Amino acid sequence: MTNPIDHLLHENRRFAPPEQFAADAVATADLYARAADPEVFWAERARETIDWRTPFTEVLDWSNPPFARWFADGELNVAYNCLDRHVDAGHGDRVALLWEGEPGDERRITYAELTDEVKRVANVLIGFGVEPGDRVAVYLPMIPEAVAAMLAVARVGAVHSVVFGGFSADSLRARIDDAGAKVVITADGGYRKGKVSPLKPAVDAALADRGGQGPQASVERVLVVRRGGNDVEWMPERDVWWHDVVPAASGDHEAPAFEAEHPLFVLYTSGTTGRPKGILHTSGGYLTQSAYTHRAVFDLHPESDVYWCTADVGWITGHTYVVYGPLANGATQVLYEGTPDSPHPGRWWEIIEKYGVTSFYTAPTAIRSFMKIGRTVPQSFDLSSLRVLGSVGEPINPEAWMWYREVIGGGTAPIVDTWWQTETGAIMISALPGVTETKPGSAQVPMPGISVDVVDEQGQHVGNDAGGLLVATKPWPSMLRGIWGDPERFVETYWEKFAAQGYYFAGDGARRDEDGDIWLLGRVDDVMNVSGHRLSTAEIESALVAHEATAEAAVVGAADETTGQAVVAFVVLKQSYLDRHSPDGLAKDLRVWVGDQIGPIARPRDVYIVGELPKTRSGKIMRRLLRDVAEGREVGDTTTLADAAVMNVISAQVR
Ligand code: WT7
Repeated sequence: MTNPIDHLLHENRRFAPPEQFAADAVATADLYARAADPEVFWAERARETIDWRTPFTEVLDWSNPPFARWFADGELNVAYNCLDRHVDAGHGDRVALLWEGEPGDERRITYAELTDEVKRVANVLIGFGVEPGDRVAVYLPMIPEAVAAMLAVARVGAVHSVVFGGFSADSLRARIDDAGAKVVITADGGYRKGKVSPLKPAVDAALADRGGQGPQASVERVLVVRRGGNDVEWMPERDVWWHDVVPAASGDHEAPAFEAEHPLFVLYTSGTTGRPKGILHTSGGYLTQSAYTHRAVFDLHPESDVYWCTADVGWITGHTYVVYGPLANGATQVLYEGTPDSPHPGRWWEIIEKYGVTSFYTAPTAIRSFMKIGRTVPQSFDLSSLRVLGSVGEPINPEAWMWYREVIGGGTAPIVDTWWQTETGAIMISALPGVTETKPGSAQVPMPGISVDVVDEQGQHVGNDAGGLLVATKPWPSMLRGIWGDPERFVETYWEKFAAQGYYFAGDGARRDEDGDIWLLGRVDDVMNVSGHRLSTAEIESALVAHEATAEAAVVGAADETTGQAVVAFVVLKQSYLDRHSPDGLAKDLRVWVGDQIGPIARPRDVYIVGELPKTRSGKIMRRLLRDVAEGREVGDTTTLADAAVMNVISAQVR
């Protein structure tokens, strides 16, 4: 029987944690042994990371799989755990948010101040008639009010549905309708690339009577933060300015206790394919794994670290590693409103220097776009405060990993490549920065307490040095509890493939190397079959990016008469290369290069040099659209693209 994916790349570099880092590390090697019984382990983590109003006596209830219940008889308030308890413990003066607006304005907000604000917003929501279990949509820029809004919703036991501010009125409407939101919290606008990008008008459009749909029925109130200063229309019976009601509201609010399985939020996945799914997360298990993984993976020393995760709160990374994990841990963190290159290409590095950021978490797509501009930009800032670097969202190819380590991490900071999903809620696979000897390009090992495997189509463990499908073999505390309003789709999408084994199938291909470490190989839907060999997108893209000319690459399988499918590559070149060379003949060189790096089977049939790759708003490459181009078809649905014009340019370049 063949493996679902063949693997071809080899990587031999290894980096041990710096000695002092290992000596001071929060997460130590004994965690793996202590996780021998995951339920015992998670119960310990839940007691250590959370203040329970009613302590739990049950750990996992898996009597009705795949519907898990964790710590079900325990009660807590999630917002209390992120706010009040730090104030009660004497840390009220600690800065929670070091906020930097895109135009350069700044605000420092302590735990005491954030707690006060959240209590007031909670009282405003109660005044709107929001009750436990009601849904509140949040459509805000990256401003402190976004964090306060989410926590206030959680505090009153309502369910937030955060919609990324870059989404259109149509996407917003679809999400508001699906969740049946009662309130929308938004802003007039926010800053993006030096301009005010309006938000309130999109809310108005989403709620209006358009195209015979009738006016949106569930939303009763719209709470609006003034940020952009842009003109907005007003419906006085529906719309309320934040600055009119929040400061005037009472600052007294006792956080009520809710059951551990009380819903916390719905987050719609804007995947690269299909209709959006409302991924449902609940309270106690989610907060336990979020806080624990944040502490362990980022080696958080809350009294001295300055942490920065660049994700928008509109994505799961922003939920777990901007809001819930760091705040539950009492961390001090940077929150930045704008884009990495506004008003200049060194903006992120300037922020790291300014605030002395120690722990930095971003995505490979961002790292590669900095590689494209060149190392002189980051090298003109003092990045020596950085001591741990994280990556998430896509496989990070060894070339980008090494660049991240050397140029950003000063050649010493450990890199944690963290694999997880909107559905998993928190990190599942990652190195521990003070323990693991890291390997460029590999996510490596499951977190203590997490059980994953790489299996073949029949669900059998593939062993070391083999490729297959990544599954979670046991339930975990922050797992999704369902798809909003669609339990059947939940079972079908994630649990049917390996129903016999009871495994959760994540949709990703992976391999174990000879040491048993895990390498992510991309979505299985993107796997190419060339003459019977199953090739992963990640490995060939990785080889392309290892060439000195290449900044970014995407490969797809296109129908081919002789080989079934052929590899077609789209590459973006580095500025430094273009400054010195002509790209003539480069396509041929890249074909030969991939052949040399991986083997002739992986050599692309076609290499197209393009200016940009099509990406979703969260930065994931949409290979489906590139496949359309490669097979000479009309390009399919581009509505989830960040920049719809990119595909026209690519189609023209390929023609
Ligand atoms: C998919 C989940 C989880 C936060 C951001 C994305 C890919 C995620 C990695 C990684 C290789 C990764 C997978 C996964 N992915 N992290 N470290 N290495 N691939 O959340 O939008 O739900 O996407 O992102 O394909 O299934 P998401």
